[in-house]
Amino acid sequence: MKVVFLAPSYPPEMQQYTRGLAEVGAEVYGVGDTPVQALPGPLKHHLHDYLQVPRLLDEADVVERVTAWLRGREVDRVLANWEVMVVTAARLRERFGVPGMTVDAVSGFRDKQLMKERVAAAGLRVPRAVRVRTIAETRAAAEQIGFPLIVKPIAGAGSADTYRVDDAAALDAALARMQHVREASCEEFIGGDEYTFDTVSIAGVPAFANVAQYLPRPLDARSHEWISPIIITVRDMAQPALAGGIALGHAVLGALGMGDGFTHMEWFRKPADQGDEVVFGEIGCRPGGAHLVDQMNYTCDIDLFREWARAVCWGRFEAPTTRKYNAAIIFKRAKGHGRITRIDGLGEFLHRHGEHVVEQRLLPVGTHRRDWKKTLVSDGYILLRHPDWDRTYQLAMAAATDITMWAE
Ligand SMILES: Nc1ncnc2c1ncn2[C@@H]1O[C@H](COP(=O)(O)OP(=O)(O)OP(=O)(O)O)[C@@H](O)[C@H]1O
Ligand SMILES: [Mg+2]
Repeated sequence: MKVVFLAPSYPPEMQQYTRGLAEVGAEVYGVGDTPVQALPGPLKHHLHDYLQVPRLLDEADVVERVTAWLRGREVDRVLANWEVMVVTAARLRERFGVPGMTVDAVSGFRDKQLMKERVAAAGLRVPRAVRVRTIAETRAAAEQIGFPLIVKPIAGAGSADTYRVDDAAALDAALARMQHVREASCEEFIGGDEYTFDTVSIAGVPAFANVAQYLPRPLDARSHEWISPIIITVRDMAQPALAGGIALGHAVLGALGMGDGFTHMEWFRKPADQGDEVVFGEIGCRPGGAHLVDQMNYTCDIDLFREWARAVCWGRFEAPTTRKYNAAIIFKRAKGHGRITRIDGLGEFLHRHGEHVVEQRLLPVGTHRRDWKKTLVSDGYILLRHPDWDRTYQLAMAAATDITMWAE
């Protein structure tokens, strides 16, 4: 089993997928822009060979270089788990005639407008949306859709340049800040709770599935620095409140022609007084970021880095999927700018609730703050778990409110 794996070292969790591939018996051919001398030692151990390319995001260049590099060597898979590389992987698969999802199928998971069109064509509920390129087009779309609405880039990530707009004046303000965005989606605002639906799928069928709740919704978390965003995996996926979203998730995988690998979908559950319906948000054919895979691993005490590899290489998933815990991650943002000077409440929190904490990765005193707008992980996180949902929620809220990081 010879596997070309794009971006094996960055983002850092890609090193875990590389390890998983090696552990299930694959020979891993890594392609990245990191110089080989700069690759971490344990990663090198899991790579059979490595090609450094000058510009990883230059798709045509990467395809040419990988083709030249592999000349005369047959490969069995070309894979990528980083959103910006999934189309390049599909392009290489088509070039080499390797099994896996086509460029067309992957595009349905990458282009937000195309994905909504395909999901809607299958009779599933998506926000009403119009693709816009100019101010005039956006105003016309707003007229048609009505307020409140959302404007966001077609090729967005991390809620960047995404705005909720409640009236014409707010639309003008948002447009002024979006001058650099070439193409946007103007869409109906969907209220209510926001969840994920994550899978490791084999031929489009989930071998593993997960639901997590965002607290608060990602756009709110990214709009207010004082918030400590929380994400909790839901232990009890059989509860009636989730049935609609899970059914939607399965149907979306079918509508988009999912093959093998991770998927990460976001969906909304509108409040009862707005019809109690579930609405599709977006989906990628790659794992969720910001430690969501770690959370899923803690939920079931399994290793999805390795099971993903087994699924994509051998078509099997061997880990137990019994859900033992709700796993909560709490991201912290320090008050003030510069370096972390103090962390209040952490000692007491760990003293009282430490038995439930599985990871404590807050930036230590003396380190420089991260840019909370650029990374959800912000100034670090605490990961905890408990079998009972209400207790998990309380513990997460306590970590959000009782621990304060300071910087100056
Ligand atoms: N139609 C909508 N109605 C209500 N809220 C929305 C809508 N579209 C997006 N949002 C809010 O904005 C957030 C970001 O939007 P979306 O997930 O489409 O973009 P993204 O930048 O790819 O997100 P991320 O990378 O953070 O997952 C969503 O999680 C949701 O909170
Ligand atoms: Mg999103």
